[in-house]
Amino acid sequence: MAKSPVYVCTKCDAQFPKWSGRCTACGAWGSIGQNPTDGTAAAPEQRGRIAAAPGKSSSFKQENGSAHAKMHTSGFAPLDLTLGGGIVDGSVTLIAGEPGIGKSTLLAQLSLTRAAKGDTVLYVTGEESPAQIRRRLDRLSKEVPDSLRFLDRTDADVVAATIETEGPALAIIDSIQTMRAPGVESEAGSATQVKASAAIIAEAAKRSHKPVMIVGQVNKDGDIAGPRLLEHLVDTVLFLEGDRMHRYRVLRALKHRFGATDEVALLSMTEHGLVAVEDASMELLKDRAMGVPGSSITCLIEGHRPMLLEVQALISPAGYGTPIRRATGIDSARLGMLLAVLGRRAGIQTADKDVYANAAGGFDARDPSADLAIATAIASAVKDAPLDPRLLVFGEIGLAGELRPVGLPEARLKEGARLGFTQALVPKGQGKNAPKEIIVKEAGTLREALQMIHVM
Ligand code: TYD
Ligand code: MG
Repeated sequence: MAKSPVYVCTKCDAQFPKWSGRCTACGAWGSIGQNPTDGTAAAPEQRGRIAAAPGKSSSFKQENGSAHAKMHTSGFAPLDLTLGGGIVDGSVTLIAGEPGIGKSTLLAQLSLTRAAKGDTVLYVTGEESPAQIRRRLDRLSKEVPDSLRFLDRTDADVVAATIETEGPALAIIDSIQTMRAPGVESEAGSATQVKASAAIIAEAAKRSHKPVMIVGQVNKDGDIAGPRLLEHLVDTVLFLEGDRMHRYRVLRALKHRFGATDEVALLSMTEHGLVAVEDASMELLKDRAMGVPGSSITCLIEGHRPMLLEVQALISPAGYGTPIRRATGIDSARLGMLLAVLGRRAGIQTADKDVYANAAGGFDARDPSADLAIATAIASAVKDAPLDPRLLVFGEIGLAGELRPVGLPEARLKEGARLGFTQALVPKGQGKNAPKEIIVKEAGTLREALQMIHVM
């Protein structure tokens, strides 16, 4: 049997067989210490033998399958939409997202609406001081209701006990990275602390039947308290995503124990906090430049809703060395693949050119159905010829240069027609039942598609 590691980094929980001054996993100095549980824990072969009083099984037939968890509308419509109606009593929801994306803003808005209805909301402040949060609340609302309370503590057991004793209608933990669990040695924010604290707080939610929302910071590379670390512990994982430099945010459920997870809410960050965007397509197209080469409009499906989006490309002669490829809101590996396919299958060469491609408005066009829009935007930029501003384009592109069908083509065409588009370029067979306002061109390959719109 392998000997268990003896030395553990208190910062990142990496384990080592030997002590050293610096953790090779996270780079911290002086963070490595002896594993406190080492040697004292029961040996694996003994663990199974600990005598316990047996439990008693019950018949499923006696279990009331229709007993329903009680759901309350949160009063914040975008949240209710993604949660399939509202917040369930005793549920634990993780609100994950990158720092600065708007998690605290969203929860401040939620707290204000709930508290305005007279419900007690307990806001556990860890990341920011109560004064900072007060300033945010003042910015979001003229009045801060009495029933919106805060607890400036970061001990998970104290927080849990407060939730159980005070029994607020909603408790918010901002954020789980600042909490500490009793008896856990590692630093706040480490994987062990985050998991242990979340478990203690989740327990309080279950016992008190009060809903708890937990903020989890997600880092671009570490996924520290992201969905993966905590998803098994919570009932619901909501993700707030977007580009901090732009105003749009998408709120979506990655896991939801109480219903479907396929509704998303599109939000806009304004000076009065997050506001739901009613007509996403209209909003996303309103700033576009028409008649400029390198712009192509596609339609994505977000949740159940079609959403028109502009994809842009800019081409310029490359200097010495490797040409630049820069993608924003588009997967850079996907961009590389599309450039290779454009070169090999359609004769559009970019090897000596810098290529910039982005989804407008800081939006995400990582869905493969945006392939044809990216490719046509690049072809249009290379040819320096604008596309018809009333042309809608969608389709996935394969390595052989073939166009592949995408889901819900009719919904995409209908959305195009609603916004005044009169032409569409789509994969073979996907123009069926198109609205009469739209003339559809169906293409089997990228080459054919580019010829049809005269950018080859
Ligand atoms: P924040 O909610 O603090 O992000 P997170 O909790 O996810 O780290 O706020 C994100 C940004 O939003 C911040 O830069 C300030 C901005 N903001 C607005 O634009 N309008 C507002 O009404 C508020 C409260 C914040
Ligand atoms: Mg915050």
